[in-house]
Amino acid sequence: MTNMRQRASVKGADLLIDWYRGVRRELPWRINRDPYRIWISEVMLQQTTVTAVIPFYERFMKRFPTLATLASAKIEDVLESWAGLGYYSRARNLHRSATSLNQTGFPKTFEELIELPGFGPYTARAVASLAFDQKTGVLDGNVIRILSRRYGVSVEWWKPQGRETLQSIADKLAQVEAPADLNQGMMELGATICTPQSPTCLLCPWVKDCVARNTDSIEKYPNKKPRRAREIWLWNPTVVERKGEVLFVENDYAPFLKGHFILPGSAQRLLDAPKSYDYRGSVTHHDIFVVVESKKSSRDLAAQSGKWISLKALSREVPSSLVRKAIDKSERRGVGI
Ligand code: ADE
Repeated sequence: MTNMRQRASVKGADLLIDWYRGVRRELPWRINRDPYRIWISEVMLQQTTVTAVIPFYERFMKRFPTLATLASAKIEDVLESWAGLGYYSRARNLHRSATSLNQTGFPKTFEELIELPGFGPYTARAVASLAFDQKTGVLDGNVIRILSRRYGVSVEWWKPQGRETLQSIADKLAQVEAPADLNQGMMELGATICTPQSPTCLLCPWVKDCVARNTDSIEKYPNKKPRRAREIWLWNPTVVERKGEVLFVENDYAPFLKGHFILPGSAQRLLDAPKSYDYRGSVTHHDIFVVVESKKSSRDLAAQSGKWISLKALSREVPSSLVRKAIDKSERRGVGI
């Protein structure tokens, strides 16, 4: 079994690399093999889609074109460039790692990269293989899906043991001359052909040997991660305004939008949906009922610290419509100031 998988893997790898070289999208982090550029792109791509990342990435690279410019930047400037991507801890780790990488140079292996703040198994493997051709496989959601289908792997991929099974297949596939192209080929195949719903199998370089397709069971792979039970929450945000700007705080009080800048306020778990509320929304497994507090002027909340975002920049800097709606609501009500 292992032997068959191994032999199939090498052949599969070559087919995939040829396919990738023919169809690859020209993305801004693919213009060269600069580990700095690849690293930033991989961190951003963990947060959102390729299309959404591109403008952020271009802006970030204009401002911090090299590792040295990022290392010597003020953290406030880095956080400002990160605005809209969420998870500010990632930007802080990025800055911290940049400072140390700028002194030591970029290590070339996943084993060394994973020691740095903000480099998880995925990022460390991605940078090592894409920038330095280390023969290591990368596993993200797309890769989990295509490997599960192609090799008919039915494992609990969200648990360590299941991930290990898939990681070892990815690692075997990566034993080629161009692991960078192999890994990007896997990402590309998952993003463009082997999509979650209705994959376009006839365009797939692996169509002949795909276990899921050959057994007419594409919908069975990968296994479905059990859904988390839904939770009902009441959120009471406050819109604090000062000269056309609104106060945001780093979210340390609500379990949804963790690590994002949101409006100051409070959140409370409920057993049942409330009868009255301004609007509702959902974030992952949280059903959120929102009651917007009266608008306050900054004089009423002198002790609040956070960051001020101008009303004009809201759509760019605040991706969450749940948060933007609270400001809309409060502006329309026009009470307070
Ligand atoms: N998703 C994660 N990394 C990627 C990359 N390098 N190219 C395209 N999509 C990706």
